[in-house]
Amino acid sequence: MAIDASGVMVESPKGLPDPLSYGSSVALELPPEVLRDMPSPTPNLHDVPEELLHITKLRQLGVELTTTCNLACVYCHFAPLTRRGKDAEQGMVENLIDFVKQFPVDYVTLSGDAEITMYKGWDEVARRMLAAGIELRTISNFSKGLFSEAEIDVFSQFREILISLDTCDAALLKKIRYRADLRTITTNMQLVRTRAIQMGRKMPHFVCNVVTHDINIGLADQTAAFALACGFAQLNFVRFVELEEVSGGKNDLRDNPNAQQVRRIRELPITEAAKAVRALQRAVDLCKGKIALHIQPGVVDEINLILNPAAADAKPIDTVAPGRIRTKQCLMPWDFFYVLWNGDVPPCCIVKDTMIGNVATKPLVDVINGDGIKEYRAGLLTGNLKPECQTCTYVPDTDTQTLTAHVRNYLSAYGKGAVAA
Ligand SMILES: C[S@@+](CC[C@H](N)C(=O)[O-])C[C@H]1O[C@@H](n2cnc3c(N)ncnc32)[C@H](O)[C@@H]1O
Ligand code: SF4
Repeated sequence: MAIDASGVMVESPKGLPDPLSYGSSVALELPPEVLRDMPSPTPNLHDVPEELLHITKLRQLGVELTTTCNLACVYCHFAPLTRRGKDAEQGMVENLIDFVKQFPVDYVTLSGDAEITMYKGWDEVARRMLAAGIELRTISNFSKGLFSEAEIDVFSQFREILISLDTCDAALLKKIRYRADLRTITTNMQLVRTRAIQMGRKMPHFVCNVVTHDINIGLADQTAAFALACGFAQLNFVRFVELEEVSGGKNDLRDNPNAQQVRRIRELPITEAAKAVRALQRAVDLCKGKIALHIQPGVVDEINLILNPAAADAKPIDTVAPGRIRTKQCLMPWDFFYVLWNGDVPPCCIVKDTMIGNVATKPLVDVINGDGIKEYRAGLLTGNLKPECQTCTYVPDTDTQTLTAHVRNYLSAYGKGAVAA
């Protein structure tokens, strides 16, 4: 028995990984002989036409503002306890607001690696960005307590609100997303929806994000029913990203003796995997025609590997045709930037230990077209990948011709909104 992937999977409309929600598909494991044959990691900017290296608009800007989080989810490698307690200074906030006023940005995601609503005055930052005509999105646990009226009002003007909610079993939720309270989350959500209706505003697109693991995958149908009952417009079942996949990632939350530890889906016994299949297929039926359901291919792959272990020995299908130059299917250096609480700008949302600039010493408008990021762009376009790109498992492989066509397409899409979902 195996999952009928065509019946279960609903692809994301953009077909692109969603930076900052940390759940995208895994790449092929590159065999050592392929890695050896890859060109050396010294991308040369002169090998690529300048028009492909320079951006004049941005699809998404991610903003961190704080490293503090109110929860301690057992599987989180992004907001370890040791990183908490740092806040953006006002100067950096002003730099970002100046940037969005002068550079075409399709939308800003106020989120980051911790919990944005823990930043004092986050709602004022959001309000100023809205006043500058920027559309806003957030990824939040919606759990810090009941939001103030000002917070509710500003959230009701967001374009998208992705709430991390792995189960509707309140006791289980509290043990895994440690301390999260289902009542707080749902009340906050309904208050935002109430405000949008009251003010005649377009309802934010509410997304329920579920990190799947051995404990909650068998409850997929119950979670889908709950998402429908709450008025979510979309439900995502995403893959549990492992610690080794996050360069510079850390997890000091697993040691909590009062929490419930979780394992990857692939560690389920076969009877539980079969139960998970039934739950997922029922979730598909429940959502059909009502809300969008995105199940990441990695989730289905892990279950299929349990049900059909022989598949694990099969060579993965190489998506790169013979004779083509291997690269990664990644647009992040062109369409997404992420500013950390201290102004540091990494090359993408996965790399945490190498920076391409800092907005305290250089305006963001210069950082996003500086030589630092152009080296990543040139590396991807030529297959001369930077070391971080070579080992990245967040995106699949492709060839340089295909990636160049995607980049040209992105760069030529005209105007605000043209490059969004
Ligand atoms: C790091 S959190 C930051 C935003 C906010 N604190 C929240 O939890 O929504 C961003 C997203 O990553 C997810 N996440 C955390 N650890 C993950 C992991 N190991 N694998 C996959 N997703 C993960 C969270 O559930 C959340 O949806
Ligand atoms: S996943 Fe949990 S611990 Fe990690 S940042 Fe979000 S709420 Fe905090």
